[in-house]
Amino acid sequence: MTTVRTKKLKIGMVLADDVRDIKGRLLLSRGKAIDPDHIRIFKIWGIPQVEVAGGPEDDDAPPAPIDPAWLEAARQEAEQLFILTERDHPAIKEIFNQAVQYRATRRTLPPPDSLPPEEASAPAKEPNRDFLEKFIDQDIALPEIPSIVIELNEVISDPLSTADQMAQVINKSPSLTALLLKIVNSSFYGLPSRVDRVSLAVTLIGTRELSSLALGISILSIFKSIPSSLLTMRSFLKHSLACGIIARLLAAQKSMRQTEQMFTAGLLHDIGRLILFIYFPEEALGCLRRARQTSDRLYQVEKKRLGCHHAQIGKYLLNRWRLPLFIENTVCFHHEPADAPDPVPAAIVHVADLLVNALGIGTSGERLVPTLDARAWETLELSPSCFEVVIHQTIHQLNTLEFLLPGNRP
Ligand SMILES: [Fe+2]
Ligand SMILES: [Fe+2]
Repeated sequence: MTTVRTKKLKIGMVLADDVRDIKGRLLLSRGKAIDPDHIRIFKIWGIPQVEVAGGPEDDDAPPAPIDPAWLEAARQEAEQLFILTERDHPAIKEIFNQAVQYRATRRTLPPPDSLPPEEASAPAKEPNRDFLEKFIDQDIALPEIPSIVIELNEVISDPLSTADQMAQVINKSPSLTALLLKIVNSSFYGLPSRVDRVSLAVTLIGTRELSSLALGISILSIFKSIPSSLLTMRSFLKHSLACGIIARLLAAQKSMRQTEQMFTAGLLHDIGRLILFIYFPEEALGCLRRARQTSDRLYQVEKKRLGCHHAQIGKYLLNRWRLPLFIENTVCFHHEPADAPDPVPAAIVHVADLLVNALGIGTSGERLVPTLDARAWETLELSPSCFEVVIHQTIHQLNTLEFLLPGNRP
């Protein structure tokens, strides 16, 4: 009997043990020969590896053991980053352990504190407590959303819209079509055969699902750069993409139907911070500095200094763009999920954001791992043991979606 990772499974291998999902439901019994559909199902359900009959394959060597020195360095680093969290909470305990393993394997070092130095003679800036009002009053010249976003929105909100109408909208944009087909053919969906046209992708994945995915991708493409003194666009988008992937996987664990909308909500969760970085870099820098000096949560510093935080700015923007209320509210309450009209989606993005910060995949400015809202965690009714599979799948899917990040676009 040998353990084989899902991506290395070959057709015809025989299962030496039952394969079950995270809730213990039987997916495939021992003794079955593996076919392409089985591999697809394992990928969708996040099965990282299975037991097969026979000896090890030559190219399936076990992962190299982690250097104890790196493990210890990662543990010490995590001790610092987790200071705001309730370390005895079972979910945090598991996330901490997974983060140490991940950071030790990747040998990631904490990013240097790259904020520009504060000028000694600079007068202290008064907090701007009416920021959202000022932001709305000034009617900041936000980039116009492309007409395709408006059309996608119409497709999503119209219950009678058809797969053909959806495909027609997407086909108007060759770049969006190319991106979507790349996503659809990646392991993000794990489809058994190649999809070469949008109409087929819509049929396989669903009208609302594909349009929601297209919506998120189109919106983040609007913004091109962040002042490099704050952080890089690539790093910000990596954080957003990983959060979207994790939100989708957690939604699948909960058997939610709106998994693609959860991906979009995760992808857009910090869009308000993107607005701050791009249009109000001085205010953003002041908040980043303050959070570093005090070890306070960045969103709380924003609230104190600006009178509102990035999630509320995000809500305003998404509302102005008439995005679905589900996405608007999930983004708005991702730091305060218990206050959300629908706490489950907000709690999913809340946990996804915490996990991304714990692993250190990209950044949206937070240095420390956020606190876990215990009520939100209870709302989800998930077991901490799900994180191992979710992290494994996230890394795999993030690698296959790397082309969405700046510098990799087709
Ligand atoms: Fe956030
Ligand atoms: Fe975030």
